[in-house]
Amino acid sequence: MKLKIAVLAGDGIGPEVTAQAVRVLDAVADQHGHTFEFEEWPVGGVAIKQEGAPLPASTLDACLSSNAVLLGAVGAPEHDKLAAAARPEAGLLALRNALGAYANLRPVVSYEAISECSPLRPDIARDADILIVRELLGGLYFGQPRGLLSEAGTASAFNTMRYSVSEIERIAHVAFKAALARRQKVTSIDKANVLETSQLWRKVVTAVAKEYPSVTLEHLYIDACAMHLIMNPRRFDVMLTENLFGDILSDEAAVITGSLGMLASASIGGAVGLYEPVHGSAPDIAGRGLANPLGAIASAALLLRHSANLEQESKEVEAAIRAVLNAGYRTPDLDRGTGKLVLQTSEMGSRVVEAFSDIANERHAYHAV
Ligand code: IPM
Ligand code: MG
Repeated sequence: MKLKIAVLAGDGIGPEVTAQAVRVLDAVADQHGHTFEFEEWPVGGVAIKQEGAPLPASTLDACLSSNAVLLGAVGAPEHDKLAAAARPEAGLLALRNALGAYANLRPVVSYEAISECSPLRPDIARDADILIVRELLGGLYFGQPRGLLSEAGTASAFNTMRYSVSEIERIAHVAFKAALARRQKVTSIDKANVLETSQLWRKVVTAVAKEYPSVTLEHLYIDACAMHLIMNPRRFDVMLTENLFGDILSDEAAVITGSLGMLASASIGGAVGLYEPVHGSAPDIAGRGLANPLGAIASAALLLRHSANLEQESKEVEAAIRAVLNAGYRTPDLDRGTGKLVLQTSEMGSRVVEAFSDIANERHAYHAV
C-alpha cells in the first residue's frame, strides 16, 4: 500500500509528538512492505508566523491531495490576544471544515497498567472502554450569525447553535455503526430540556436508531452525563453528542485514562481523514522532551484503520502501546512516583517502535509455521 500523509506538526509539543508518530508509521511501513510518504506543512501559530495565516492555502491544498493528515497541536500564548478568526485554533477549525471531517472519534480506554494514574478509584475506572462520537462541523463552533456587537456604548457577543436534520442524521449513523462493532449501546447526549437544537437532535437520533434494532439507545442530559461519566464510566459504550458538548466531555473522559496525553482522535467523514491527539499544544512543557507521544501514536493507529483500512497494522500499533505500558514505561504526565521508568518523549517513541517490531515479528513467525 502506498500512502501520502501530510504532517502538520503545529505548535507547542505538536512537533515532538508527531515526530514519534511518524517513526512508528515508518516502522509499520518497513515491517509490512508499505510505502508511506510524509510531507510537512505549517498550521496554527507556526503558520501565522511563517505565512501570516493559521491555515495557508498551500497547507490546505497539500492536505486535500493527501490520503490522510496527521496533526500535532495548535495554539500558542503569544496569539491569545488575536480575534477568534485569526487565532491558531481558527486554522484547525478551517481545516476540519475544508476536509469535510464531520465525525470526530475519540476512544477512551482505561489501561490496567496505568490505572493508578487516574484520580478515579481503580474499581471505578477499570475496564472503561468508551468511544466518543463528537459532531465536528456544526453547533456553536460554526453556527452563523456570530460576532461582537457594540450598541449604545455596551459591548455584547453572540454565537449561534444550529443543527439541521441531515447534519444530525449523518453523525448518528456513524455512532450506531460503531456501536454495532462494539457493545451495541449508544448514549446520545443533549440538553433537550432547554435547547431547541437538542430537541431536534433527540428526535432525529431516535428515528435513526430504528435502523439499528440491535443497538440500545439511551438519552442523557449533558449535565447528568458529566456526572455519570466519572461515577460509572463502564456504563458507556458509544457516546454521541454535538460539537461543544463533545469537546468538554472528551477532556473530562481523559481522567479515566489518567492523562489527556493518552487520548487520540480521528476526524472523518470527508474525502481526507484528519488524525490528532486530543491534548493540545501544552506550551508550558514544549521542547523539553516531557510530552507524552502515546496520544499521537494512537492517532497514527486510527489513521491506519480509517484512512488505509490496515486493521492488522492498526491493532499491532495499539498492542505496542499497551505493551510498553505493561512493561512499566511512563512519560512525566503519568509519573505518580511509583518507581516506574519515566522516559523522555523520543525514548517512549523508541520503546513503542521496538514493541511494535516484536509484535509484528511474532505474527510473521506464527504465520510461517
Ligand atoms: C479539541 C480542541 C479544539 C476544539 C481547539 C484546539 C479548537 O480543544 O480538539 O478538542 O475545541 O475542538
Ligand atoms: Mg478540546
